[in-house]
Amino acid sequence: MITKQHCVKFLIPSAKFYRTPTTRLSILHQNNTTSNSGEGNNVFLKIYSLMILVLDILSLLVKVLLAVLESIYYNIAGVQEKSVSGEIVLITGTGHGIGKELARQYAELGAILVCWDINTELNEQTVQELRKMGAKAYGYKCDVSDREAVLELAKKVKAEVGGVYRPD
Ligand SMILES: NC(=O)c1ccc[n+]([C@@H]2O[C@H](COP(=O)([O-])OP(=O)(O)OC[C@H]3O[C@@H](n4cnc5c(N)ncnc54)[C@H](O)[C@@H]3O)[C@@H](O)[C@H]2O)c1
Repeated sequence: MITKQHCVKFLIPSAKFYRTPTTRLSILHQNNTTSNSGEGNNVFLKIYSLMILVLDILSLLVKVLLAVLESIYYNIAGVQEKSVSGEIVLITGTGHGIGKELARQYAELGAILVCWDINTELNEQTVQELRKMGAKAYGYKCDVSDREAVLELAKKVKAEVGGVYRPD
């Protein structure tokens, strides 16, 4: 059986930070037999790790720069907004948190809400709140981890409420 210690032993033969009884033996063995190649591996690993770190930092900087440029562009050019008023918007996890907040915001924009959640009680509270806001809202119990249940419920929603809005 391959254990974590074996992995450490084979992947980092000379690593000082991961010394366990097994790796200590391995290091001693290597130092006694192939000390030169061990040192070579160690230097190679250090250079490799440094290169990965530098690449990671560079890729992060490029992503930050692109995000800043994109946001400047959209601030100047403006974003073309599309109305969702009267559109059927289906949101999962509407009983609490992000899903509930999204449902509120779509309700403010005049959308028709289809609320799916595994927790019927919490979901019903959300649906009632949305209706008080003047929105049309329909609650359904659904476990989104159950693919068959999701497909079945999608058919039911299509028949009872209508086709769900699809952004372009
Ligand atoms: N809160 C954050 O900052 C944050 C950030 C990034 C990603 N997320 C992810 O977004 C999702 C929602 O986060 P949240 O903070 O609003 O969570 P939350 O726990 O506040 O709400 C989750 C809602 O989903 C429902 N739910 C849970 N399992 C379900 C299932 N199998 N089928 C249907 N409904 C189910 C719960 O009943 C609950 O109403 C989570 O997957 C979370 O990992 C959250």
